[in-house]
Amino acid sequence: MGAIKVAPSVLSADFGRLGEQIAEAAEGGADWIHLDVMDGHFVPNLTFGAPVIAAVRRFTNVPFDVHVMAANPDVLIPALADAGADYITVHAEAVTDLSQTVGLIRSAGVKPGVAISPDTPVSVLDEVLGDLDLVVVMSVYPGFGGQSFISGALGKIRQIRNRLDAMDSTAELEVDGGISAANSGEVACAGASVLVAGSAVYGAPDGVAAAIAAIKATAS
Ligand code: DX5
Ligand code: ZN
Repeated sequence: MGAIKVAPSVLSADFGRLGEQIAEAAEGGADWIHLDVMDGHFVPNLTFGAPVIAAVRRFTNVPFDVHVMAANPDVLIPALADAGADYITVHAEAVTDLSQTVGLIRSAGVKPGVAISPDTPVSVLDEVLGDLDLVVVMSVYPGFGGQSFISGALGKIRQIRNRLDAMDSTAELEVDGGISAANSGEVACAGASVLVAGSAVYGAPDGVAAAIAAIKATAS
């Protein structure tokens, strides 16, 4: 496995200068930019969608990792693809036919991901695991930044890592929620390849670049 990737979540950035905040993370060592699309139905929070993502796309060439927390993600996929998403992740809990939604993402020219919330078992991924470029294990209940890491995620990360390795999959395994330099070591050790960090990056007193470096240092 290569070096761990860090994907700052702009949920904790200053939305009044979102483009600059994304550029700052990219220049500070971000491997991906994580963009949380929330619809106010699947989760009790509302953020932004394709128009905002299209507007900030020109601030960097770093891959855009779009995490869709919406009750009906299928209708959003074409516009998110056009906006410049490199990865689109939908929630297993929100989708009735996961294979079909994954196919929709793939046919829009985007790499598909599936996320599972803390109470969702790894087994829901069975039907699609071999078709994914990204698996996202939520280590907080989706909806808000700044929550504490739920350690029950570690067992799920290990299980998924074993399954991906057993099928020779090169899919990325991302962990989202409550990540900081204090726990990035054990999360990487469990088998994660991408760490999302929102408040630990954009709320860091020493700045974005130092925070990304600290997360990578303990993860390696
Ligand atoms: C939560 C989002 C996360 C969030 C992470 O629903 O999916 O991406 O921004 O924020 P922190 O790192 O503060 O837990
Ligand atoms: Zn997220």
